[in-house]
Amino acid sequence: MASNLTGTVALVTGASSGIGAATARRLAEHGAAAALVARRRDRLADLAAEIEKAGGTALAVEADITDRAQAEAAVQQTVDRFGRLDTLVNNAGLMLLGPVLDADAEDWDRMIAVNVQGLLSTTRAALPHLLQAAEEGPRRVADIVNISSIAGRVAWSGYGVYNLTKFGVNGFTESLRQEVTRRHVRVGVLEPGGVATELGSHNDHKPEVREAINSFYEQTEVLAPEDIADGVAYMVTRPRHASVGELWIMPTDQA
Ligand SMILES: NC(=O)c1ccc[n+]([C@@H]2O[C@H](COP(=O)([O-])OP(=O)(O)OC[C@H]3O[C@@H](n4cnc5c(N)ncnc54)[C@H](OP(=O)(O)O)[C@@H]3O)[C@@H](O)[C@H]2O)c1
Repeated sequence: MASNLTGTVALVTGASSGIGAATARRLAEHGAAAALVARRRDRLADLAAEIEKAGGTALAVEADITDRAQAEAAVQQTVDRFGRLDTLVNNAGLMLLGPVLDADAEDWDRMIAVNVQGLLSTTRAALPHLLQAAEEGPRRVADIVNISSIAGRVAWSGYGVYNLTKFGVNGFTESLRQEVTRRHVRVGVLEPGGVATELGSHNDHKPEVREAINSFYEQTEVLAPEDIADGVAYMVTRPRHASVGELWIMPTDQA
């Protein structure tokens, strides 16, 4: 594996499973020191050990990014340990589906807290370090990749608030891109279609939603988390003058 991120530091939120874990592995293979952020400490510790065993560098950082102080502390812990931050992958997310009518408003609060507020808090804390890396680092460029979704491009009945969060992430990403791109912090969204992860499992208590999700996964040859990790790696390893603002990765089998 080419080591074109050697000497850089990447922070990945939601690194305890699915897309985030695969992305942290992939960036570490490219030579980045990886800060692994999520709530499940055991999973992070296992992944950190795996990355280190393969010759990489990793730091497990237990944090609930819905708490702004914890998001800020996660960034600070990363910079304290590695001295810099070059890449932020805002990946942590929740997808709680169902109709708006009679919805559990707590589901909405939880999704907005992780998908929007958590992403904002982590970005706000990381941005000064990314700007510094772009100014002073050997590569003279830094990156934010926000993991959005096809649900940030297309709305469906039953996806209302998940759609809201991901459309919001897309709008915020493009606004921030324009704000900092001339300072060589590249900001882009990656929008996956269906990926085999734990994402749907948080709907297990809603039989109708669970059934619809199961039926989609049974009938569709979905993506692997590594397919998305490859996309992130592509975005952050472009030459300094090339910024990927949007990458939409779909299963070939998903219309
Ligand atoms: N799977 C798909 O089909 C698909 C499609 C499009 C977009 N996406 C997006 O991809 C991203 C990753 O999801 P995934 O599919 O890989 O699902 P996943 O396996 O459920 O991963 C979600 C990650 O988010 C973390 N997380 C949740 N709440 C958190 C919090 N409060 N603080 C810190 N971390 C938190 C979880 O870790 P802890 O529970 O340990 O905190 C976990 O590592 C999400 O943004 C999702 O919307 C997924």
